Amino acid sequence: MLQPKNKTITIGDDVFEIYISDEQLQKRIKEVAEIICNDYKDTVPVFICTLNGAFMFMSDLMKNITIECEVDFLKLSSYGDAKLSSGNVKLLKNIDCKIEGRDVIVVEDIVDTGLSWKYMKDLLLGLKPKCLKIVSLLVKREAIKYVVNIDYYCFDIPNKFVIGYGLDLAQKYRNLPEIYQLKSGS
Ligand code: IMP
Ligand code: MG
Repeated sequence: MLQPKNKTITIGDDVFEIYISDEQLQKRIKEVAEIICNDYKDTVPVFICTLNGAFMFMSDLMKNITIECEVDFLKLSSYGDAKLSSGNVKLLKNIDCKIEGRDVIVVEDIVDTGLSWKYMKDLLLGLKPKCLKIVSLLVKREAIKYVVNIDYYCFDIPNKFVIGYGLDLAQKYRNLPEIYQLKSGS
């Protein structure tokens, strides 16, 4: 059973330390949701959750969105089981709704190199939305390699691997309610 001791988790040789608590996540998500609601108060946007990583963020964000909206889901794979981006993005599940002429907001867990967001932009802009933006829970600004806009984000974090709150290591640890960061030197 997964039971973080003193808010650290040891996985093989790696030690992860608590980095963003549940309370910090909820407070910041509420703030960002309020900004989005204000920006989109005159329209009915479609929020597109990128699976699997953004599922928890999507859920908490949606609970704080107080305007009319729709939701849909898209699934990409890029990391495989490694801690470094493979540099390849595959579309595993496309959206089902029509976004032509609509305001669309992609909901991401993290922008790392920016490749996934660049890939989704190219894909979704081809479907002619009125406006396409992103809200990302985390941004690793130092790691960005592609020219991408990040319209809304909750936390700008250093270039260190993180797990929890939807983010995985080899598909595990997504169920942790807070975010843990790989300790330097581990
Ligand atoms: P990008 O395409 O390099 O921007 O990577 C984006 C995707 O890689 C994210 O949506 C995550 O699924 C995954 N990713 C990037 N950094 C991390 C991390 O520190 N932990 C877990 N997953 C990550
Ligand atoms: Mg993702």
